[in-house]
Amino acid sequence: MDFLKQYGPWALIAGGSEGVGASCARQLAREGLKLVLVARTPGPLEEVAQQVRAECGAEVLPLSVDLSAIDAIEQVRRVTDALEVGLLIYNAGAQRHVAAFLDEPLEDLMKLIRLNAIGQTAFSHHFGAKMRARGRGGIILVGSLSAYIGVPRMGVYSASKAYCRILAESLWFELQPHGVHVLGLMLGNTRTPGTTRSKIKLAEPIAEPDDVAREGLAHLADGPIWIAGGNEPGVAALSRLSRAEAVRMVHQGMLVNAPPE
Ligand SMILES: NC(=O)c1ccc[n+]([C@@H]2O[C@H](COP(=O)([O-])OP(=O)(O)OC[C@H]3O[C@@H](n4cnc5c(N)ncnc54)[C@H](OP(=O)(O)O)[C@@H]3O)[C@@H](O)[C@H]2O)c1
Repeated sequence: MDFLKQYGPWALIAGGSEGVGASCARQLAREGLKLVLVARTPGPLEEVAQQVRAECGAEVLPLSVDLSAIDAIEQVRRVTDALEVGLLIYNAGAQRHVAAFLDEPLEDLMKLIRLNAIGQTAFSHHFGAKMRARGRGGIILVGSLSAYIGVPRMGVYSASKAYCRILAESLWFELQPHGVHVLGLMLGNTRTPGTTRSKIKLAEPIAEPDDVAREGLAHLADGPIWIAGGNEPGVAALSRLSRAEAVRMVHQGMLVNAPPE
């Protein structure tokens, strides 16, 4: 695949300052793409930008925006309207703690929905329209294995990832005739800085961000869904259980992995 021709000249990575997003940034810069990197914290954003510029001489625009803000797309557009963005990777969206639905402040749940479901919708709608008009491009929506099951004490998170998966599938079909590749990249446990900082203990197998990014980019044209890190057998096994059995099983796993309350 000629990345620059199909997905260039600019890639926008929402959640591009660390983990899988930063790995995608480094790998895309080596393919000759220019980058807009979005995240909240300026320090790590600037660090990745400097690294990529030093390694490849790539043009990189770091952009500090909270993607859970209602006007996130407008804030990003102030910079990107002047650019030809041929690749959107919407990576931000993890939840770092577990708590019962009714014990979470409603505003925190709404923020997670804005970051994941609303953010992926708004960014895909805006950048997807431009890609369709050009007849080329790519969109990666980063999801999770929790897209396949309602995870107790992470209900809104898993529901938002199910939304991501379904949106990716339908967009893949709609944009395929227009030369735009759409991939829902479903991650299993991955050793990102965010998971390392969090108290949630990851269960094996644990993938590395560089490997997940490489896998996602290599399979961008193989949508609608790519389950990363060799986790397809686990997802298939889950689908053979009744929904009640599957939810109970995931709950048991959560009890093992969650920090004591
Ligand atoms: N790591 C895993 O084990 C795992 C497993 C399954 C699925 N996933 C999925 O993979 C993706 C990446 O996960 P991750 O573990 O690397 O953590 P993450 O916090 O979702 O992603 C890290 C990147 O997103 C940025 N980000 C997070 N919240 C943001 C916000 N509100 N506005 C702007 N940028 C934001 C972070 O920078 P700032 O914090 O500075 O904003 C950082 O650049 C997520 O969608 C997650 O659901 C991860």
